[in-house]
Amino acid sequence: MSMKLKTLGVVIAAGTVAATLYANNADLPPAATKQGVTYERDIKAIFERSCLKCHGPEKPKGKVSLHTLEATLASNVKNKVFKPGSSAESSVVKAIARLNEDDAMPPEGKGKPLTGEEIGLIRAWIDQGTK
Ligand code: HEC
Repeated sequence: MSMKLKTLGVVIAAGTVAATLYANNADLPPAATKQGVTYERDIKAIFERSCLKCHGPEKPKGKVSLHTLEATLASNVKNKVFKPGSSAESSVVKAIARLNEDDAMPPEGKGKPLTGEEIGLIRAWIDQGTK
């Protein structure tokens, strides 16, 4: 293959990867437009309904506790729950949006999937700095 063709192949491959990432992010429900989103006001009730039976203070699954803001922030080791300021790149958002059934939260058959509105609030909370 000539240099030019090789370069073209790399460019096309990179473009495909970028397009796939973009398509996945575009599959996420949009962040809520609400300002001043906080854990106490907007997020805690969602976690209580859908997550705390497995992610409370006692033996939390995946070592992720979500029962208080402090516990949630402390569980975010190496950004494994969320990437501050960037909800579209946060694993918890991909999990609740069920982009991949294997990593979906709540796990398949273990609870009602979150609504688009709930996912939007969690996205806004992450985008606004997880206060
Ligand atoms: C029925 C139990 C159950 C419920 C309900 C549940 N989870 Fe989980 N969760 C698990 C298990 C089990 C793991 C560990 C999976 C693993 O490590 O492979 C986990 C892991 C996680 C992780 C860590 C993933 C990682 O990369 O280590 C996050 C974040 C998470 N859950 C968020 C949530 C959220 C948010 C909710 C509610 C919307 C929720 N989970 C509801 C069982 C549950």
